[in-house]
Amino acid sequence: MSDDTASNAMWGGRFASGPDAIMEAINASIGFDQRLAAQDIEGSRAHAAMLAACGIITDSDAEAIREGLLTVLSEIETGVFQFSTQLEDIHMNVEARLKELIGEPAGRLHTGRSRNDQVATDFRLWVRGQFDAVDAGLQALMAALVDQAEAGADMVMPGFTHLQVAQPVTWGHHMMAYVEMFSRDLSRVRDARARMNESPLGAAALAGTSFPIDREMTAEALGFDRPCANSLDAVSDRDFALEFLSTASICATHLSRFAEELVIWSSAQFRFVTLSDRFSTGSSIMPQKKNPDAAELIRAKVGRINGALIGLLTVMKGLPLTYSKDMQEDKEQVFDAADALMLALAAMTGMVSDLKPNRDVLREAAGSGFSTATDLADWLVRALGLPFREAHHVTGALVKLAEDKGCDLDELTLAEMQTGHEGITQEVYSVLGVDNSVASRVSYGGTSPEGVRAQVARWRGGMG
Ligand code: ARG
Repeated sequence: MSDDTASNAMWGGRFASGPDAIMEAINASIGFDQRLAAQDIEGSRAHAAMLAACGIITDSDAEAIREGLLTVLSEIETGVFQFSTQLEDIHMNVEARLKELIGEPAGRLHTGRSRNDQVATDFRLWVRGQFDAVDAGLQALMAALVDQAEAGADMVMPGFTHLQVAQPVTWGHHMMAYVEMFSRDLSRVRDARARMNESPLGAAALAGTSFPIDREMTAEALGFDRPCANSLDAVSDRDFALEFLSTASICATHLSRFAEELVIWSSAQFRFVTLSDRFSTGSSIMPQKKNPDAAELIRAKVGRINGALIGLLTVMKGLPLTYSKDMQEDKEQVFDAADALMLALAAMTGMVSDLKPNRDVLREAAGSGFSTATDLADWLVRALGLPFREAHHVTGALVKLAEDKGCDLDELTLAEMQTGHEGITQEVYSVLGVDNSVASRVSYGGTSPEGVRAQVARWRGGMG
């Protein structure tokens, strides 16, 4: 369409010329919003059926529209549909093709609606689908983690603070810590999904419509719980997408932390775990290398997801009500973030399922760095009645002694132990091994194998 021949057919009336090529380039969203095709057609089908039910269009027009839309959908799905930049976006591409297919009735589809409520509806449907996909992805990941936890409920490993060995913990306990994190992500997904499940359709351009439409009917047909209560809000807020992104950011942050642990644990220095070949790569120059690329990419994906969140927050900030074209910039980053999150969840689930903890290495490392010093201090409190502060002091002196001798705490002789406190007896050795240490952590939420098995049982029950 050249400048002097025609204006856009959808609003040609008052336009003497068509858009400049640059205008077309900045204005068109079809390059990305074609991803909303299925949702757009679903929304239009619901709208047309409602218009007929309310006597606003005839049944035969509605039937022609319905059949035409199904044809358009199959053309898009099979890849034969010709998308046109001149037609700007998915809404006008679909409607124009519908007109080619069925003629005059196509022009009646847009009665009582606007692209403003249309795009808000399409995008909500799409984001809702992503909430459901993330929900399923999180459940699969949690199931894989629970399996790991169960298999390693009594496998000792070092627990860290400051990345320094702190106290022995169990592998199962560490896995279940992530189950807790991902379960909160899941609960955020479900909260946000419940909050966003309202239908903007029928808000029309911004003020509602004078046609006797039935918004309950379209809401129900599209699986929404109810229509949005305020038409100005319905067409102009994108907080549902922001909630998706913020939920995705937090989830990706959890994934990133775990990915970082896998990178560290699989290094030659740690050798805590062996990653499967399925989720590693080799080096083209160093034959000995096996690189944790999937873990590194999961660690990095959070970057683009956080970027999308900040991007959309920035687009929305300061926009006056109601719709502004700025809001067309809501989609690409959400698409990208959703793809990144789904990929990261799937890769992590695969890695966790294949993950082989190296029991002996973990056990050896669990006992390093005087990790049972707290157990010694606790024993002094329990067996000798020392105040904890004094027990801490005595233990510190014994750690120093062992360090000077270059041995572990449980390798000190009883006589050496008694230089710390004369009341110490042979019984002290029973708390110094790493197994004894973890077995003793029976407080609720603690690392004992018994406690881990209880957490696992709780999750298995809850996740059904
Ligand atoms: N492509 C537009 C978007 O994504 C659709 C809505 C256009 N509405 C309008 N009044 N120009 O936001």
